[in-house]
Amino acid sequence: MSPSGGLLWHWRAWRSQAQWRPVCAQISDWLDQVEPRSSELMLIGASAGWMMPTAWLQRFKRVLVWDIDGLAEPLFRWRHGAALKASATELVFQRADALANLDSLLDAHPQACVLFDNVLGQVRFHFNDLDAVSDHIYKITQALKGREWGSLHDAFSGPIEPA
Ligand SMILES: C[S@@+](CC[C@H](N)C(=O)[O-])C[C@H]1O[C@@H](n2cnc3c(N)ncnc32)[C@H](O)[C@@H]1O
Repeated sequence: MSPSGGLLWHWRAWRSQAQWRPVCAQISDWLDQVEPRSSELMLIGASAGWMMPTAWLQRFKRVLVWDIDGLAEPLFRWRHGAALKASATELVFQRADALANLDSLLDAHPQACVLFDNVLGQVRFHFNDLDAVSDHIYKITQALKGREWGSLHDAFSGPIEPA
């Protein structure tokens, strides 16, 4: 089971929507200021788009989504599908590891801008060694040179002391 996907994770996300509202508003404000030139978006680690404002996705002609979680696509379509259809935004969803195959995905979509949607901070859950995590993220940033891209993440991921 993925530490950031699966039935329990989505159930918690659904249940916590009210608690997440302020952060969703902040993400929405931030994205409103981001005006990519590209009409194609590569959205990596979108999950169900629990924190993603639909209106920002509607600005694109094509949204290409990657997530390793099998529940991400049906839930993302449930949350955003109708609105994207209304704005004639094509939604292409792939269940695949986008980070392992990033170079070839970037080659396949040379004009697309890229948003890592709360996923790069999750990389630490997939490696035992923190140096390997840093190295992996550094290589990702190198691959993105010359590309419009962004990344957002929680300040904290994983268990924390309440204090
Ligand atoms: C914290 S969740 C993202 C939440 C999302 N931003 C939202 O608004 O609901 C991180 C997502 O990244 C996905 N993920 C993790 N590693 C990935 C990878 N290598 N390639 C694609 N997706 C990945 C997980 O399956 C999970 O759905």
